[in-house]
Order: sequence, then structure tokens, then C-alpha cells
Amino acid sequence: MVKIPHRLYLNEDEMPKQWYNMRADMKELPAPMMNPATMQPATEEDLYPVFCKKLAHQELDNETRYVDIPDEVLEMYKIYRPSPLIRAFNLEKALDTPAKIYYKFEGNNTSGSHKLNSAIAQAYYAKDQGLKGLTTETGAGQWGTALAEACSYFGLPLTVFMVKVSYQQKPFRKAVMQTFDADVIASPSNTTEIGRKILAENPNTSGSLGCAISEAVEKAVSTEGYRYVLGSVLNQVLLHQSIIGLESKLAMEKLDEYPDVVIGCAGGGSNLGGLIAPFMQDKLTGKADPRIVAVEPASCPSFTRGKYAYDFCDTGKITPMAKMYTLGSGFIPSANHAGGLRYHGMSPILSKLYHDKYMEAVSVEQSKVFEAAVLFAKKETILPAPESAHAIRAAIDEALRCKEAGEQKTILFGLTGTGYFDMTAYESYHDGKMNDYIPTDEELQKGFDSLPEVPEK
Ligand SMILES: Cc1ncc(COP(=O)(O)O)c(C=O)c1O
Repeated sequence: MVKIPHRLYLNEDEMPKQWYNMRADMKELPAPMMNPATMQPATEEDLYPVFCKKLAHQELDNETRYVDIPDEVLEMYKIYRPSPLIRAFNLEKALDTPAKIYYKFEGNNTSGSHKLNSAIAQAYYAKDQGLKGLTTETGAGQWGTALAEACSYFGLPLTVFMVKVSYQQKPFRKAVMQTFDADVIASPSNTTEIGRKILAENPNTSGSLGCAISEAVEKAVSTEGYRYVLGSVLNQVLLHQSIIGLESKLAMEKLDEYPDVVIGCAGGGSNLGGLIAPFMQDKLTGKADPRIVAVEPASCPSFTRGKYAYDFCDTGKITPMAKMYTLGSGFIPSANHAGGLRYHGMSPILSKLYHDKYMEAVSVEQSKVFEAAVLFAKKETILPAPESAHAIRAAIDEALRCKEAGEQKTILFGLTGTGYFDMTAYESYHDGKMNDYIPTDEELQKGFDSLPEVPEK
């Protein structure tokens, strides 16, 4: 029998050298991205004004199963990867569960989250193409921080549009981004046409990822030599994040383990898409049948209450349209503390897999999430990000079900990041001031009313 350590670190040379593209094994592909100007599937050339060329290719490449990770990207990955696979012995004991709980911890880098895995790749390809700078949006701040780190490493200027509510709640995040030379602007702002329009219509808006994306895209396409990069949702981002799942699977194999259930939080779907990638491959190719569970906030329930429809990825409706589970690009979620999960849509790949019943989704309320976060912090001594704590909540619930049923299931969840910049959220939980706002059907309907009419091909 293999002795199970508390933490398993793969060796540096065991780190995967290729990313895995789930689309190559999907029986049915996600619906194509649409160019709203022509109402035809977007081509690589259509994407060139917004994305750099190699990323536009990755976005539309449904065939290549394994993609080589460039050496320059591997070099930077080695600064903080392979990341540990941790057995939550103490949490298991506290729950008195027969279940075995493992988690893949992606918070051991300065950005504090998995976002760096794609930021490095995207900054590298932009530099390689000779671009002059990048723009992006950030919600919780982790993506902006990660991209600032990556841009600084490759010597590229960066402008970050940060969702206003996070900008106000997390001033230190801004300071970290500035440490890495990024220009950080609260969104909506007066620096773009779309920002001015949104502010004129709703001067007190707390902003949303959808608004910030619109501003970042506008700034990129109107600045010579600039391109836009996005930290989630896109197919290319899921590709880069597959390193999380590939490492997890390898580490579990070393322990003679295989998960019965894989759980991840879902904002735009990048960590979940990355974590599940090789396990979903087993499912798609009939090798194994683990359950795969997405966890989202009850305040922003894209999977569990959204519609599977074509929609814009941003509020200003300037991006191409994707078919995904969405609450409508006009939906502004309540000011939930998990900023990174406040996005109206969901990865088109995960949306298709969910629609085809390869995965499940649950929604959880904020105070239950923080209850789980606090227990986890005490037992595992890692202070989780509120986003990651959604996965912890679902993993704990699964372990408690195992206790009731007397089942020894193996649970794997993604611990995407740390919550050291989220102390306002923890404070409001400790002070009993956290609210669990759940949108009504009428409120959701307003978002659905903003969905574009797209004829099905
Ligand atoms: C720590 C953390 N986890 C999860 C997410 C959710 O994003 P995604 O669904 O793309 O993994 C975010 C987004 O900002 C995040 O910062």
C-alpha cells in the first residue's frame, strides 16, 4: 500500500509539457463563436483585432488534442509549479467522514490563484508577436494581479479595468498590481466611450465583469499595437488551465487514487475546466466515470438558473457572441464577496458538457460558503479565497453525505486561491452582516430580456 503524505509535490521535471484540449475528445463540439456583424461563425482573422494570433488559433482549434507548452512559459511555471496535491486529513477528522478529501492548491504564488497559469501563456504569446501592450479586466483582482506579474516578467505594459466594487473593497490588490507596473482603472470609468455611456445610464453602478470587459476591449482595439486578454470563459484559457488537472491526475496516480467526485467553483469556468480536463477525457473516452460538480453562488446562478443561449461576453455588446449558460449580459449581480464568480456567462465548453449531462452544478449561499471557509482555515491552516470556498462548501457537503451513507468516496476539489485580500468579506461574516441575496425570477428575467436574437444554424 502507498503511504499517503499530507502534501504531494511532483518533481519539476514531472510537470506536464503539453496542455490538453478537451474539445478534441468531445462527441459534440460547443457551438461556434459568432461574429455579431455578420452573424456567421467567427474566423481566426475576425479575432485578430482583439486577440493575438496564436491565441486566436487556440480559441478556434477544436482538433489538436495536446498543445506543446512553450519553453519560456515552462520556465516561468517552474517558479511556482508543480503545485501541491494535499490530503485534507484534518478536515476529514473534523467532519468524522469516511470520505477521502484531496485538494489541488493553486494559491502558492503572488497572484494568490490559478490565474497565473493562463496569464503567463497569454503574455508570452503577445510578446512573441511583438505587441506593444495589453488590456484586461479584473473582478476579484486575482486575474489582474496574475497578468500584471506575467506582463512585468515579459516586459509588456498593461492596463487593468477593475470592477468598481472590488476596487473599493480591495485597495491593496491595486497596490500589488502597481508593484508590477500595471495601470489600474476603476470600471466603469470615464476613460472609454462605453464606460461613459454606462455611467450616464447608471451613475451609482458598482460595475460588473461584463462592463469592465467592454472597456478593456474598447481600449485595446483603439490603441495601436495593443490587444485584449481575458482570464476566464475562453477556450484558450481552459486549455492553459488544464495543467491543474494534468498534475492532479499524475499525483493521484502516484497514490493509487482516482476521484469519484471532482468539484470546482465556477465563475467563467477556467479553474474548473482545467481541473476536470483529464478526468473529463476519461469520461468522454469511456475509461472512467467520475462525477463532476460545478459550484456557483446562489446570487449569480449561471448554470443552475441561466439559459443556454447565444450571448455577448460583455455588457457593452462589442465582443463576439458565444453559446453558453448565461443570465444575460445586462445582468448585474448583487455585491457578493466572491468577485471572481460574479460573471453573467460561463465557458462555452463547460456549458456544452453541462448541457449534454457530463457534469452537474449546484449553487450555494454566501454565509454557508464562509462557514465552510472558516472551518477549512482552522483545520487546514490555509485562508481560502471566497471563490475557492464555494468548492470547499460542496466538498464538505459531499463528505457529510458519505458519512451518512457510510461510503468511502474519494473527493478531489480545486482550492484555487488564498483570501488574504478578502478580509472585508471575512469581517462581514464574523460580524454577522453578510447577506444571502438570491435574485428573484423577475430579476433574472430582466437579464434574459437582454439576450440577442441569433438564428440557430
Ligand atoms: C481565486 C479564484 N477562484 C476562482 C475564480 C473563478 O474564475 P474561474 O471560473 O475562471 O476559475 C476566480 C476569479 O477571479 C478567483 O480569483
